[in-house]
Amino acid sequence: MCGVAGYVGPKKAGPILLNILKRLEYRGYDSAGVAVIDNGKIFAIKSKGTTADLEKKYLKRENFGGCIGIGHTRWATHGKPTIKNAHPHISGHIAVVHNGIVENYQTLKNKLIENGFKFKSDNDSEVLAHLINYYYNGDLADAVSSAIGRVVGSYALIALSVNAGMLVCATKDAPLVIGNGVDGNYVASDIYSIAQYTNKIMRMVDNTIAIIEDEKSTIIDPLGRPVILDYENVDLDLKDDGFFNYPHFMLKEIHEQPKSFQDTLSSVISTMEKDITLDIGLSETEIRSLESAYVVASGTSYHAGLMTRYLFPQTAGIMVNVETASEFRYIEPRPNSLFIAVTQSGETADVLASLKKARDLGLRTLAITNVKGSTVTELADKTIYTRCGPEFAVAATKTFTAQIAVLLILAIKLGLVNGVITSKDAKIMVSEAEQTPRYIQYLLEKEADIQKVAEQCAESECCFFIGREYLYPAAREGALKMEEIAYITSIGYPAGELKHGPLALVTDKSHVVALATYGRTIRSNIKEVQARGGDIIAFVSEGDTEVRQIATKVIEIPKTKPIISAVLCSVAVQLLAYYTAKEKGLQIDKPRNLAKSVTVK
Ligand code: F6R
Repeated sequence: MCGVAGYVGPKKAGPILLNILKRLEYRGYDSAGVAVIDNGKIFAIKSKGTTADLEKKYLKRENFGGCIGIGHTRWATHGKPTIKNAHPHISGHIAVVHNGIVENYQTLKNKLIENGFKFKSDNDSEVLAHLINYYYNGDLADAVSSAIGRVVGSYALIALSVNAGMLVCATKDAPLVIGNGVDGNYVASDIYSIAQYTNKIMRMVDNTIAIIEDEKSTIIDPLGRPVILDYENVDLDLKDDGFFNYPHFMLKEIHEQPKSFQDTLSSVISTMEKDITLDIGLSETEIRSLESAYVVASGTSYHAGLMTRYLFPQTAGIMVNVETASEFRYIEPRPNSLFIAVTQSGETADVLASLKKARDLGLRTLAITNVKGSTVTELADKTIYTRCGPEFAVAATKTFTAQIAVLLILAIKLGLVNGVITSKDAKIMVSEAEQTPRYIQYLLEKEADIQKVAEQCAESECCFFIGREYLYPAAREGALKMEEIAYITSIGYPAGELKHGPLALVTDKSHVVALATYGRTIRSNIKEVQARGGDIIAFVSEGDTEVRQIATKVIEIPKTKPIISAVLCSVAVQLLAYYTAKEKGLQIDKPRNLAKSVTVK
């Protein structure tokens, strides 16, 4: 994973690199580092933890200048998250930052040790610095080219040398973009991080090398032949990156959901006529000839995808397989199918690999993402955007509910074309969906009640989230949120399955969160838990009288259609997890061991 950054130009490189790294932290925040060349020497600063920790160190030693430099923010794969393993790695006059994995690093390391190189870290990337040094013969681009010729694995690397006034970059299976600005040239893992300096962006493609100088950037292939890549003008909204009045991004983003849901919906329907404007890049005949759909995603996006298991057969009139992206490689999809990648970041490696596989097999591909210009948008036949603005907290919230909004409208569109629903039905469904932001707002007003319940959850050793049908993915999402930010072992289960095993874990130190806003069958499952001593927190529909009698704590949710109820329950469990983590005094926006975007397989 990790984020890499580089700058060469007339300005001091250190502060620019720090600013870029701050926007790359979603790729990892186990350690960070920068290296700049000043007066013919490499100056490097590294720190454990976030870029803010690095910045503190940098400010104490700001006496060094240097207008060329590289930076890195790390998510640990090889070697613990220590300063020793932080990038940049230095070998004599060479410094390197790397995103990716050097799979044959042990073989390369042994050879380099035989040749007298001394290793300081346990990190696979260190071999790249020594390898480039080993091959260096007065030409940095040549040395990088020879080095990557020996590497098995993936890389987005940036190298600098005290002897060369340039950065040399190389990529394979990891993203790297070059920005051409008025005040120099930039390189980084994504567009967003350098858009604060320039909107003139070039994406590197696999197996190319870039030579980035003060005035220009040149792209070559590993044999030194020129490669023509064009700059594009990107237009990103960078305004919205403050906490405003919220203590954490996560809480701010939870509260943004009425707007993000509304904005997403408005981008795929016409609010006046209640018609669907969503374009999926397929003609009606092509839609009708589809045999099935594959919805592929990871983590929270997978939970949004799971909603289609109930939604598509009923509404879209199409069979659907919902798969976690890391498992899709073992699945043989049916040929005449639509592949739908759901990914907030558009960069999740497993999702991208699945999409490439689907494309290679000739499936039509559709991406649902929140990030303009992300890699998934380059790979998919067609992209639909969720309109959430940037999501900074590692725990996804507003993008999850917006993904459900897109999937709902997509199902209605497919259902209309397939003749499963009438246009009158479709208009009614669209109108119901349009009520959701208002309901979310209403639910957010119950925040204080949820906070009170969370105080009890903070004592919990184990939380079970249960639900049926659409409430099952919502239950899984609640469990994921509770685990990732409140560090409480949590399971999201279909309510009817508890008795087939997990019930054995229920004790008086566990909490069961029952999503019971519709359907009566869950009542008996709640009773099974109660009989074993578990505390029950139930989210019920307004006016419920049955579950109320058996649950320990009850929170009412507006009474709505099932899928909308699942959206509301999801917002409720987001708040529950948030306040549980807050009660435990945890760091919330950047939970331990995680990263916002998972760019390794
Ligand atoms: C959890 C979370 C992760 C992501 C997962 C997929 O809150 O955010 O589970 O959902 O890493 O990321 P995207 O959606 O960017 O593909």
